[in-house]
Amino acid sequence: MNLFCDSKMDDAKRRGELYGGSVFVYSPSPSALKFCEFARELVEAAFHPYDPLKVQEGMPVERCVEILAELKPRFIHHPRSKELIKGILAERGCDLEKTYFDVPRLRTAFPSDYLSSGIAYAFHPHRDTWYSAPFCQINWWLPVYEICSDNSMAFHPRYWDAAVRNNSNTYNYYEWNRTSRQNAARHVKADTRVQPRPQVPLELDPQVRVLANVGGVMLFSAAQLHSTVPNTCGLTRYSIDFRTVHLDDVWNKCGAPNVDSACTGTTMQDYLRAMDFTRLPEKVVALYFDGSEAESTPSQPFSPVGAN
Ligand SMILES: [Fe+2]
Repeated sequence: MNLFCDSKMDDAKRRGELYGGSVFVYSPSPSALKFCEFARELVEAAFHPYDPLKVQEGMPVERCVEILAELKPRFIHHPRSKELIKGILAERGCDLEKTYFDVPRLRTAFPSDYLSSGIAYAFHPHRDTWYSAPFCQINWWLPVYEICSDNSMAFHPRYWDAAVRNNSNTYNYYEWNRTSRQNAARHVKADTRVQPRPQVPLELDPQVRVLANVGGVMLFSAAQLHSTVPNTCGLTRYSIDFRTVHLDDVWNKCGAPNVDSACTGTTMQDYLRAMDFTRLPEKVVALYFDGSEAESTPSQPFSPVGAN
């Protein structure tokens, strides 16, 4: 895995590198810093008078879930979130006419004996392409507070070009939206939702953990195998992530190689153009249909309310 730090590479070359398994990390930039500040304002208001990093020390977990169930959708759908993403994409040299993003998620990783299911799901090793993401999807990830190795996320680069036996063939994006995602806040003690998972034990080491500063941004392909690091540092981790696709790559159906994803459905109808927040043309979205959309309503894109 190549790790590029503050690379001056243009967006087209960068996407090529990302589709080959490289990861990019950038130092703090003005819009990214503002995005973190904005997230912190919402988080701190929601948990007041608790310290958001130590919620687990005093707040009953059920109350925490109630707060997250209100906080996360507010952040996801806030107009300011979209404007700040647009700013980040401009800072990172993306063409705002051809780059499309989906609404951002606010993730929480609590010390794992407190809450690691449902709305604060601790992700087992997975590729986003097991969850119907296209192979040209790029993930953008930002820590909201300073992070350390023990509350970060990890890549498992050994599996970039090695297939992992998994059950992604049981996952359909439209079906997931209809059923499991809406119920995230109900899974407090355990998470019984069926998700794509490895079906064999994995060698998770060596693993790579990239620790950016607040306001720094990390980019990686949706095909990277990655996971939530079990939080053993005693402080809750808050992070933002969103995803992008580039129109040329969507038309040309290029992106990372598919080594083992077998899910159905597509997230393609969810992305918004950075310039004006319009959706991808229907014609190009239709290139990604596989028949399973016939039972869904792709003209009415899903608005995520859950944790993932
Ligand atoms: Fe993921």
